[in-house]
Amino acid sequence: MQSNKVSIPDIFKKKANGQPITMLTAYDFPGAKLVDEAGIDIILVGDSLAMVVLGHKSTVMVTMDEMLHHCRAVSRGANRAFLVGDMPFLSYQADINDAVYNAGRFIKEAGMDAVKLEGGKERIPAIQAISDAGIPVIGHLGLTPQSATKLGGYRLQAKSAESANILLENAFAIEEAGCTMLVLEMVPAQLADFISDKLSIPTIGIGAGAGCNGQVLVYHDMLGMNNEFQPKFLKTFASQHQDTLTALKKYREEVENGGYPSPEHSFFMTDKEFAAFLALQK
Ligand code: KIV
Repeated sequence: MQSNKVSIPDIFKKKANGQPITMLTAYDFPGAKLVDEAGIDIILVGDSLAMVVLGHKSTVMVTMDEMLHHCRAVSRGANRAFLVGDMPFLSYQADINDAVYNAGRFIKEAGMDAVKLEGGKERIPAIQAISDAGIPVIGHLGLTPQSATKLGGYRLQAKSAESANILLENAFAIEEAGCTMLVLEMVPAQLADFISDKLSIPTIGIGAGAGCNGQVLVYHDMLGMNNEFQPKFLKTFASQHQDTLTALKKYREEVENGGYPSPEHSFFMTDKEFAAFLALQK
């Protein structure tokens, strides 16, 4: 293992020392290279791939083979970050043996260090089996996009005292089952803070306030690539939709008006060689 590679003990140390843990998604070689170079602790190859890269309406459409294809590209681009592959819908829900086998493929065939899966107590057998196979498992509670239809859409979860208590019980249960970390998505900030304090494993929040041990955002969203997606929790750290559109239009204009390519972007043979070439045409 590379000496500066982020490890699970490094991540736990950050929680113990009160240092925020950084996580971002990436889906390809150039994106992973940039996230790694920026010093982000953890790269998640999220099943959000389905929506932000492949253009599906929900995350449930992405397949194991598509996830593995993108994980391989990410693992070629990142040397330092801890790498997490997101288990797609139906790769772990239907059968425990399938869950272990599919989790193993992320490690063995795609260079990931851990896998993430969604759900609470109902996932205990899968979490235990994957963890017993020696594979670190990251849990995911709150808004779990693979069950967004059942949850009534992409909305804040655990708003009532009762539902918050159920979420807390699920968090304890999956920690006990062997989860190494926990993603909390779209839950009230006080609840995420409380859970982060009670659990020994690190929590990583998205739309879960500042009390989590770390934060995660989707690469394309935080870079402002999609100006149609602006949920309350999202901060955009760049305006790539506008910047990229401006560049693409400028390219089109310059090709159309002859501004590009100019001599400085062109290759030339010597006048003598070109004259000789023309002589060959007579
Ligand atoms: O798929 C994904 O990108 C995720 C993050 C939003 C946590 O699960």
